[in-house]
This record gives sequence, structure tokens and C-alpha cells, in this order.
Amino acid sequence: MSQGKRVGIVGAGNVGATVAYSLAMLGSCHEIILRDNKMDVAKGKALDMSQAASAVRSHTVVSVAEEMSDLVDCDVVVVTAGSPRLPGMSRDDLLMINAKITKEVIQGIAKYSPNAIVIMVSNPLDAMTYVALKESGFDRSRVIGMAGILDSSRMAAFIQEKLGYGGGQIRASVMGGHGDDMVPLPRYSTVAGVPLSDVLTQDEIDEIVDRTRHGGAEIVGYLKTGSAYYAPAKSTAIMVDAILKDTKQIHPCAVCLDGEYGYNDVVSGVPVMLGAKGAEKIIEVTLDEKEKAMFAQSCASVQTLIDTLNKNNFFEGN
Ligand code: LAC
Repeated sequence: MSQGKRVGIVGAGNVGATVAYSLAMLGSCHEIILRDNKMDVAKGKALDMSQAASAVRSHTVVSVAEEMSDLVDCDVVVVTAGSPRLPGMSRDDLLMINAKITKEVIQGIAKYSPNAIVIMVSNPLDAMTYVALKESGFDRSRVIGMAGILDSSRMAAFIQEKLGYGGGQIRASVMGGHGDDMVPLPRYSTVAGVPLSDVLTQDEIDEIVDRTRHGGAEIVGYLKTGSAYYAPAKSTAIMVDAILKDTKQIHPCAVCLDGEYGYNDVVSGVPVMLGAKGAEKIIEVTLDEKEKAMFAQSCASVQTLIDTLNKNNFFEGN
């Protein structure tokens, strides 16, 4: 039991609220505090979720933080706050807007929950994780981005759909940044331990890799006014649960690399051991030349975003 644990969630939109709901249903923590500028909406959702928790005999209570200063002494804080891309806005515009929002939120977290582990969910995910790391001054083990669990779950679902069997037995592996050049790794993906190449053709595998890379856009294409939230939220809840329960299980997460895979000071998705102290260990998987080149390309894309932040003097005055 993890009684007494407190989780803050900044941004109570679709993703934030669904993370809260997942955690309340799991009974992962004692208290979940939602923080959103739309206070009444957050209050309504908090009441609704506390009542759902009662229905399943979960002890979790969901409440609302009126100010960042009410998000106090959290064990974990999930950050989903950010602006969606609006018409006429470039990716760089979105980058700067969300970086500013992240900066403000992270400064509040560092002040009021200085021992928290921060899980970043806002996009562009890897760059926002980098901003959160720099703005918090926390050790890199305490600033972790959610994306790898989502992307590998998508890949697993596409494998299951293609095979027509093996549901729940598929382990798919995706590394790299959460962008179009993420690095799905069929070589490290299996169905009940059986390599993918023994049950699917290369063309089928290529199709799955491509669909995984555009898995987020496929859903936006259907929803039209928003993006996916069930799988992103569940993936986030899995990370929070692993940390609160100190499971020491390996999950793909975005962390700042410090020599691992030959990269420094850039965030990318890699297998990470999650425990009470956050990203307690980074696992270095052996990649072949083609996989290394894809990983390099993905890191370069994230680096371009970090360079844009630097060119705009974003970190100056820190
Ligand atoms: C996705 C967006 C939200 O992958 O990043 O669904």
C-alpha cells in the first residue's frame, strides 16, 4: 500500500484528468491534486473522480489546487499544461509558448514540492522535458518525460491488429524522441518471446513501424479538435505507479542523456528503471548501425528544438 502519497497534476484537460482517473482507480496514492486555470471545471472533475473512487472502494481523494502554492509537498507532479497548435502557428511558435508555460509551472513545483519527481507530458515532449530539467535544477533522475510507453503500446496494438492474435503477450520496443523520427525497434519486439520476424513479413513490419511513427497524428485525424488521451494518460499513470510503488521495472522514458548512447545534454527516449527515486538507472541497449543512425537522427531533431530555445535566449537569466 502506498498510503500518504500525494500526486499533483498540472493541467486538468483530457490527458491530466484521465491520468487522475487512472490513478484513482488504481488506488496508487492517497491524494491527487489537480491544478488548472479553469478552476470550476477542475473542481467538478475532482468531485466526480472522488466519487468514482468511492464506488470502487479506493481510498484516493481528488482535490483542486487554487494556486501553485497549494501543490505542496507532492511526491510526484505530472505536467500536462500547454497550448495546442493553433491555425497559423509554426512548430517553433508552439515550442516557445509551451516552453514559457513549462518554465512558470516548473518554477512553482521547484518552490512548493522541491522533492517531487516531475513527469512531463506536454509537447513537444522531449524539449519540454529538457526545459523542466533546466528550470527545476533537479537531478536528471527526477525529471522524466512520458512517451516511450505510449509509442511502444501503439506499436504493440498495431502488431496485435496485424497478427490477429497474441494480445497481452506483445512486447514492442520504441526508443528516441516523441516525433516522426522516433525509433521503433522490431528487432527487440516479440510476441510471447517469439521474434517479430518469425511471425510477420518485412513489409508488414515496415507498415507497423510507419504507423507507429504517425500513431498520434492518426488519432488527431479522427478526433479533429484534439489529440489522443486514453493511451497517453494510462502510460503516464503506469510511470507514476511504478515510482510510488518503487517497482524498479524497466519502461521506455525520456531522460536527459549524460554520455549514454554517446549523447550529452539532450533528451531522448531510452529504457529506464523506475523506482522511488525516479529514473534510477538508464539501460544501454545494443543498437546496430541502422538503429544507431535512426537514434542519431531523432536526437538531432530534439537538439534543433533546444537550439531554437537557446537562440531565443530562453534560458538566459537562470
Ligand atoms: C500523441 C500526441 C499527443 O502522440 O503527442 O498522441
